[in-house]
Amino acid sequence: MKALMCEAYGPIDTLVVKDVPSPLPGPRQLLIEVRAAAVNFPDALMVQGLYQVKPPLPFTPGAEISGIVKAVGSEVKHYQPGDRVIALTSTGGFAEECLADMARVMPLAAGMDFETGAALVLTYGTSLHGLKDCGHLQAGETLVVLGAAGGVGISAIEIGKAMGARVIAAASTDDKLELCKKVGADDTVNYSIENLKDRINELTAGKGADVVYDPVGGPYTEPALRALAWHGRLLVIGFAAGDIPKIPLNLALLKERSIIGVYWGDSTRHDPVGHLANLHQLHEWFAAGTIHPVVSERFPLAEAKDAIAKIANRQVKGKIVVLPNS
Ligand SMILES: NC(=O)c1ccc[n+]([C@@H]2O[C@H](COP(=O)([O-])OP(=O)(O)OC[C@H]3O[C@@H](n4cnc5c(N)ncnc54)[C@H](OP(=O)(O)O)[C@@H]3O)[C@@H](O)[C@H]2O)c1
Repeated sequence: MKALMCEAYGPIDTLVVKDVPSPLPGPRQLLIEVRAAAVNFPDALMVQGLYQVKPPLPFTPGAEISGIVKAVGSEVKHYQPGDRVIALTSTGGFAEECLADMARVMPLAAGMDFETGAALVLTYGTSLHGLKDCGHLQAGETLVVLGAAGGVGISAIEIGKAMGARVIAAASTDDKLELCKKVGADDTVNYSIENLKDRINELTAGKGADVVYDPVGGPYTEPALRALAWHGRLLVIGFAAGDIPKIPLNLALLKERSIIGVYWGDSTRHDPVGHLANLHQLHEWFAAGTIHPVVSERFPLAEAKDAIAKIANRQVKGKIVVLPNS
């Protein structure tokens, strides 16, 4: 089978598609024919050796897939060949076939296509966990989403609206903000031409926002934190801009603001019951038409490295997917 291989940590352009042997499932694993594999920002960091997880080389990137079960290990009871599934794999997704641990596999809901299935769980799971479990977002509160047209950003807009918040989307181009409006943002800030703090204050009549969802970091975190209201919460999701901001802590003291880290992947292991409840909620919202993952582009496996480069270069709207068996 064909797989995208990272043979040495380095530039994304050095990734290559190769013929490799089909993997064999261990007792608690499934072998899945990959129909769609979503591209996430950590894929770009991982292949460059810049992510907190460094898989042994060589490896195939790709953390989130959907597909059809081809074979199951001896201890797998709830799935059989032919089942349509979603799986979180950490690595291995950008390939014609992929192994997944049975604990990280879930059925692909009836009525959900493969592309949507691959694009749903990681980003929407992160945003639901972040906004509900960590940020305690309440109906009627104002939520600011940074990097709002990106993968986790779009999901935070939709989930913020589903939870009853007013959502202000912040992004770097009018084109990206148009998409944010389309998925439900109430107001927008173009932070490449507008002052983020002043604009949030203006939009909230000087009160400030209640929650900031920040997957970007860099120069945007501090002005967003300064625009948080009394008892406001800053959710630290990621650092797509590259720099990890160093924050003056008086900004927390002044309005009893909280700075809260969100690490969805580990949270699913610490609280598997809460994770299942969140997955259930996401499926309910999907079935009701409340959330709609945006898949903006599709790539064949031969162009998977271009897809990864695109996310690293700030050029993605919503989610993009690789279709290894198309
Ligand atoms: N904590 C968790 O559990 C968790 C889970 C999933 C993802 N994450 C993290 O969340 C972040 C976003 O992930 P994603 O999949 O949503 O990525 P994404 O789709 O690429 O979105 C990131 C956004 O960051 C903005 N950005 C600003 N400067 C950038 C730069 N120099 N390069 C690239 N993007 C830049 C871009 O929006 P503008 O152009 O509008 O500024 C982009 O749309 C990543 O750091 C990822 O590791 C964390």
